[in-house]
Amino acid sequence: MAVPPAPPGAAKPRHSILVRTIAIVLLALIVLVGLSVLIIWLAVRPKKLVYTIEDGSIHGFNLTNNHLNATFNFVIRSYNPNTKVSFYYDEVEVSVSYDDETVAFNTVDPFFQPRRNVTHLGVKLVAQDVGLFGAVAKDLRLERSAGEVELDVRVKAKIRFKVGVWKSRHRTMWILCSPTLVHFSSSKSFERTYCDIDL
Ligand SMILES: *[C@@H]1O[C@H](CO)[C@@H](O)[C@H](O)[C@H]1NC(C)=O
Ligand SMILES: *[C@@H]1O[C@H](CO)[C@@H](O)[C@H](O)[C@H]1NC(C)=O
Ligand SMILES: *[C@@H]1O[C@H](CO)[C@@H](O)[C@H](O)[C@H]1NC(C)=O
Repeated sequence: MAVPPAPPGAAKPRHSILVRTIAIVLLALIVLVGLSVLIIWLAVRPKKLVYTIEDGSIHGFNLTNNHLNATFNFVIRSYNPNTKVSFYYDEVEVSVSYDDETVAFNTVDPFFQPRRNVTHLGVKLVAQDVGLFGAVAKDLRLERSAGEVELDVRVKAKIRFKVGVWKSRHRTMWILCSPTLVHFSSSKSFERTYCDIDL
């Protein structure tokens, strides 16, 4: 039986050389990009922002028929420890919740935070006739009579960061300060709350 002639042998090796070259070039590009990211990262050394609540108080508290009226005042401290990164805060929303029920909400004016800067944000949140579930209202009433209440303060911020002249795209930063213990009596001093940041 006659063996059929082998197909022209040149096609296959040439094809695989091309593939190999492309692979090497791609690999080199990936390594280069990775190296430059590493170098930029080492040069910039981004550090996490530090958020704390320095002061908190409640005024005009009235819980009647499971409806809440209250005014909350918080002083939020934002520290940017970075020596090369500054931040634009384009949208800042603050909310306060009790037992996973948001009772009040407010926004903070946009601001710019330079490098190594501390900014204090005074936020006033007003709960007006907020309906609460029976069990939640009951717990809140108990904490009220004990003289202090554990709240969650949340900040959602749309930010951009700036390194030199380069500005990033928008990113959303979530901040949770929990539990934030607030006393009803103004004679008791507020204890600083440290916040978690998710960026
Ligand atoms: C709380 O609100 C209710 C209904 O608005 C009112 O009747 C009551 O007097 C208020 N209590 C206080 C202590 O202000
Ligand atoms: C809350 O305030 C509104 C008006 O500001 C009033 O109509 C309502 O009765 C108050 N509710 C409570 C529980 O105090
Ligand atoms: C932080 O930045 C704000 C806004 O630029 C400025 O008003 C404030 O004085 C700065 N604070 C410090 C401690 O540098």
